[in-house]
Amino acid sequence: MNQRKWRYLLPVVLIALAALSGCSIDQRLNALDPSGSAGEIQLDLINWSIMLMLGVFAIVITIYIYVLIRYRKRKGIERMPEQVHGNTKLEVIWTVIPIIALIVLAFPTVKYTFDLDEKPQGDDVIKVKVIGYQYWWEFQYPDLGITTAQELVIPVNKKVSLELEGKDVLHSFWVPNLGGKTDVVPGRINHMWLDAKKPGEYQGKCAELCGPGHSLMDFKVYAKEQADFDKWVASMKQPPKQAVSEIDKKGEALYKQNCMGCHAGATPQVPGPELNNFALRETIAGMLPNTEANLKKWIKHTEDLKPGTRMPKINYLQEDELDALTHYLMNRKSKTEK
Ligand code: CUA
Repeated sequence: MNQRKWRYLLPVVLIALAALSGCSIDQRLNALDPSGSAGEIQLDLINWSIMLMLGVFAIVITIYIYVLIRYRKRKGIERMPEQVHGNTKLEVIWTVIPIIALIVLAFPTVKYTFDLDEKPQGDDVIKVKVIGYQYWWEFQYPDLGITTAQELVIPVNKKVSLELEGKDVLHSFWVPNLGGKTDVVPGRINHMWLDAKKPGEYQGKCAELCGPGHSLMDFKVYAKEQADFDKWVASMKQPPKQAVSEIDKKGEALYKQNCMGCHAGATPQVPGPELNNFALRETIAGMLPNTEANLKKWIKHTEDLKPGTRMPKINYLQEDELDALTHYLMNRKSKTEK
């Protein structure tokens, strides 16, 4: 095929590929298929802007094609077109029309911006403080007195009021199917709210480049039926089991030596996720399924698994010590209580 034909074919191929790639969208990361009110509002705004832009596109393209055909070079007509230097009437028209278009877009934008910024009130609103760290998320429920990491658990059909703050650099809180993005800024508290209309697992992401571990700063939102949410709260509130067996006692000693400094708040400058309820979490570091084998892998290879993480590799433990430590962490709460 000659080069000329390719020139026409290439855009067609690219457009077809772009259309096909739409089929492979990860449904857990799809802002175009919202599962909550905030996400629906945002989709509405996306649709508004696209409709308006399509209108502008259609008008401009129609005029463009008309001019191309009407004023094309034709045999027998060799005259120079009329040369003009500005046309006040035309300039006023093409200034006023975009202004009107922007005003039309401004109405829903301003309304929705204020709607999304509103702090939901009422007894059944779940309040959560979200703290972003390089590269993990902490979720505190001040009214329930519980704290967790990497996993935001919420009841379905209840508004969740989020107060977001960063502790080191800029992050951005985003759950494509539920809502966001909201900047997470050190020294400043931002607000947003969301709800989930059906139970399930929703994927969250950090949406602001924040360092080498940015792409792995994932979290999950678990929306549960009220009864299941209450069960989760109860198991979170239960104190962790005491170490009784030989292996757990050994694990506890190792935990105190190696982990507690960062993970129990003794060194606030290097904070780590709380580990009392570690066994209740679905993931390790927000990225690996929570199994004992993965926990060992994480402890030994933190930086290889999540570049830039502030947790150093603990690769100096003997195998039996690692066994004891992971056994202790995995069994402080029993998974069946979930
Ligand atoms: Cu935090 Cu990107």
